[in-house]
Amino acid sequence: MTIPVGILGLGTFLPDKRLTNADLEKMVETTDEWIISRTGIRERRLAGKGVPTSELAVEAARRALKDAGLTPADIGLIIVATISPDMIFPATACIVQYKLGAECPAYDISAACSGFPFAMSAAHSYVASGMYERVLVIGAEVLSAFIDWTDRSTCVLFGDGAGAAIIAPAENGRLIIDTQLGSSGKHADLLKLPAGGSAMRASEETVRERLHFLKMDGKEIFKLAVRYMGDAVLKLLKTHNLNLDDIRLLIPHQANLRIISAVADRVGMPMERVFVNVDKYGNMSSAASIVALAEAAQCGKIKSGDYVVLVAFGAGLTWSASLIKW
Ligand code: ACO
Repeated sequence: MTIPVGILGLGTFLPDKRLTNADLEKMVETTDEWIISRTGIRERRLAGKGVPTSELAVEAARRALKDAGLTPADIGLIIVATISPDMIFPATACIVQYKLGAECPAYDISAACSGFPFAMSAAHSYVASGMYERVLVIGAEVLSAFIDWTDRSTCVLFGDGAGAAIIAPAENGRLIIDTQLGSSGKHADLLKLPAGGSAMRASEETVRERLHFLKMDGKEIFKLAVRYMGDAVLKLLKTHNLNLDDIRLLIPHQANLRIISAVADRVGMPMERVFVNVDKYGNMSSAASIVALAEAAQCGKIKSGDYVVLVAFGAGLTWSASLIKW
């Protein structure tokens, strides 16, 4: 027997410090006009220097626990999705577990911008099978630590933040119906942090060549993001015998407004029913989907009984589409 699984609580944490396009104009050769027209981003949040991802994750987790009326002792498992962990190891989730005062198992998932939905899918399976009753799923990033602030083609795109959800047997709707996942390792080179792993060991040379920062083929990523996210939405709807009119809100990964509009176009969804907050936060990778879902719920864009589709795409490549009945 599988147990119906839902979202019991949601929480977000966005650092106070805002980096506007005007601030970036003083750092690299760019303009507010270029950034807005190519990306739709107006500002992004930055964690202070020395503030690790686990701190943002813990704040978001505390808020999700409060929203669900739970304490850390009620949690059976913690999964943190991140590509900007505190360290390569141990898992950021273990640090979060300690800081929260929980005693359950904890591990990380690395699926880049699809990180939260990948982690939510794992949590869904654990809860549906009865293996764990309540799973704390967190998407958290301090990407500012891995951005080359001298590279105008990437530094304007990303931001820091965290979101968390308590996944548990469904009580009052917010039912997770399905999450479909995909990966394509043949495209792994398109978006990566080349050095510091076992393939390219850290050395003076890798530091000098700035290989410890994120590198991206923006044009190729753009095309594939539109194709994979669009197709993932259509496949999900087909599986569940739904059409776009049945969906109250599409929540695409928040990387770039042009990608979001192109995905909406590809599937035929009017922009009035597409959620956008990339203008405020930039691309927060693993944190983007959960922060967007939490904000959409908070501002009343989704109501009880509405179908919501979350669609994500990121480095790996990875992609996912989730169907939730609010
Ligand atoms: N300010 C001013 N000019 C810039 C900037 C900048 N910040 N960045 C690049 N340029 C210049 C380039 O140097 C280039 O100049 P050139 O023609 O003299 O060589 C010119 O602008 C055009 O550059 P393009 O790369 O062709 O610009 P494009 O229209 O492709 O936009 C962008 C670039 C915004 C990165 C786009 O490719 C994109 O959004 N890609 C998706 C990337 C993304 O969102 N990745 C996130 C991770 S994956 C995901 O989450 C989906």
